[in-house]
Amino acid sequence: MLTTACLLLSFALLVVGFHEPVSCPQDQHCQRALLSGNDVLLECNFSVAQWHYLREGSADWNANLSSVSNIKVLPEGHLAISNPKPSQSGLYHCWNANGTQMVQYEVDFQDATMLYVTHKGLGQKPLENQTLSQSSRELIFTRWEAWQGCNRCGEPGERKRLGYCYIKRPLEDPVPCGLYLGEMKDWFSRLQPELQVEACHVQCGDYRPSRVHYVSFDNFRLMEESESLWLTCPVASIYRPVNWEANSIPLTWHDQLSGQDFSYFLDQSTGGKQLKIFWQATYKCFVEQELMVQFNPEARPEMLEAQRMAMLEAQGAGEVTARSGKADSVLKQLMLMLLVVTTLALVGLLFKVLCPAQGKRSNQILLVK
Ligand SMILES: *[C@@H]1O[C@H](CO)[C@@H](O)[C@H](O)[C@H]1NC(C)=O
Ligand SMILES: *[C@@H]1O[C@H](CO)[C@@H](O)[C@H](O)[C@H]1NC(C)=O
Ligand SMILES: *[C@@H]1O[C@H](CO)[C@@H](O)[C@H](O)[C@H]1NC(C)=O
Ligand SMILES: *[C@@H]1O[C@H](CO)[C@@H](O)[C@H](O)[C@H]1NC(C)=O
Repeated sequence: MLTTACLLLSFALLVVGFHEPVSCPQDQHCQRALLSGNDVLLECNFSVAQWHYLREGSADWNANLSSVSNIKVLPEGHLAISNPKPSQSGLYHCWNANGTQMVQYEVDFQDATMLYVTHKGLGQKPLENQTLSQSSRELIFTRWEAWQGCNRCGEPGERKRLGYCYIKRPLEDPVPCGLYLGEMKDWFSRLQPELQVEACHVQCGDYRPSRVHYVSFDNFRLMEESESLWLTCPVASIYRPVNWEANSIPLTWHDQLSGQDFSYFLDQSTGGKQLKIFWQATYKCFVEQELMVQFNPEARPEMLEAQRMAMLEAQGAGEVTARSGKADSVLKQLMLMLLVVTTLALVGLLFKVLCPAQGKRSNQILLVK
């Protein structure tokens, strides 16, 4: 029974996902720069809301947004857009049943695949301001959002902030680049959105019990047919703090952007929602410091014995610090394995929900001792 309930929960978690809420005061017109490829929710708090969409450069309003595959009008009236494309920029108007306009959004979905990523800790500099053309007084610049929360607590972590491309004329308010230039935006190269990362260290707040019990995928396996495997962290997004760990060791932007660590690849355009892996380990993903999903590798027969021995040993020692010290050498061993088993593939994913079993987690790094 419980298993069934947990299974349903895990499906619900995967299907519902998380849409970044975007709001605009009633009766207002709001220009918003957002990123493609990351789910958003345009808010219109009115249960009989009707949405109309006008695509950039088009003259025809679309009054039936339910017919667009990645768009849903929710019962509360909000508009959920999953994986928006840059071409879905334009006007989104919300009307109530009386034909009164409630909210108007003018959205520029900037191309997340063009994201310009820099890390402060590596001395990388963000893009510089630039004029639109040599003689023009129109300035292209990046307007930065606030820093997001730290992706870990109690230990060194990383935080990120988004920067959107804007254009400003003297004495006028800045306008998102895509809305300012319309069809002409393909002519310019500086029009990239940005992502900046820096190190952070915060104390852990009080433990808040999670409403969503985390999901565990068992028995993923990397085989020889393909070279890698993508793992997805269900409710992660570029708008939220995300942290991945392999055998309890954080996979950082710092190491990836330094160009020295090729043992994993965090997808930039989704802020690390997707992780490309090249070797077997236990992978965990945290969103806003909360464990969301855990991927367990398939246990191999020759490793089971080693695992059993290691478990006995760990139970005897019970030393958390000693174990994390060992993790480094485990990592190195895994890296060696990677060289031998260069090519990998997914055989199957079995769901199982470990209703939050913090205690059980202590065994995972022992797998490949
Ligand atoms: C939406 O409207 C309902 C009822 O009018 C109200 O109770 C609720 O607080 C509103 N929610 C937001 C986010 O404005
Ligand atoms: C809107 O589109 C959906 C899906 O294509 C269709 O089933 C529905 O009848 C349409 N509604 C209107 C009012 O045209
Ligand atoms: C819409 O019309 C109904 C009935 O005509 C009225 O009761 C309601 O207050 C109106 N709502 C708005 C937002 O104007
Ligand atoms: C770039 O332009 C923006 C907007 O005018 C301004 O706030 C910012 O200080 C400029 N940055 C630099 C490095 O000049």
